[in-house]
Amino acid sequence: MKVGIDIEKIERFNKYVKDEEYLKRIFTKEELLYSMSKKNIAQHLAVRFAAKEAAWKALSSKNKKLIITDISVKNNKDGKPQIYIKNKKCNKIDISLSHADKYVAAVAIAF
Ligand SMILES: CC(C)(COP(=O)(O)OP(=O)(O)OC[C@H]1O[C@@H](n2cnc3c(N)ncnc32)[C@H](O)[C@@H]1OP(=O)(O)O)[C@@H](O)C(=O)NCCC(=O)NCCS
Repeated sequence: MKVGIDIEKIERFNKYVKDEEYLKRIFTKEELLYSMSKKNIAQHLAVRFAAKEAAWKALSSKNKKLIITDISVKNNKDGKPQIYIKNKKCNKIDISLSHADKYVAAVAIAF
């Protein structure tokens, strides 16, 4: 079992909200649609970025060729986030996300 964690400042993502080039480089269409549908767009972008980093940390020792943009997040019908690798659901990793004031955090466990 491997663990990965990441914390991000939401502020950093405020400037990216209108930077289409950056957004498309880092996030999938689904991640952008989900985040844009929320009141605090930067918060949801930031936590998705944290999720990618945490998942990468948990998976990197198993998959050296993995890059951050191979990893994406989709929420299940009940809201629980799920990691996808190259658009395929990854059942070998569990992730948990949280937002609080100026920060977001993500923890990933790969098993
Ligand atoms: C889902 C819930 C736990 C989220 O908690 P919160 O404190 O409001 O919000 P947080 O910032 O910590 O977490 C938000 C993230 O939780 C995740 N989440 C949402 N629903 C989830 C679920 N069913 N299971 C796991 N994670 C979930 C999402 O990733 C969300 O972020 P996103 O929208 O950017 O993807 C909460 O809204 C809820 O429904 N609670 C009901 C359960 C309850 O009674 N809790 C109290 C028990 S002590």
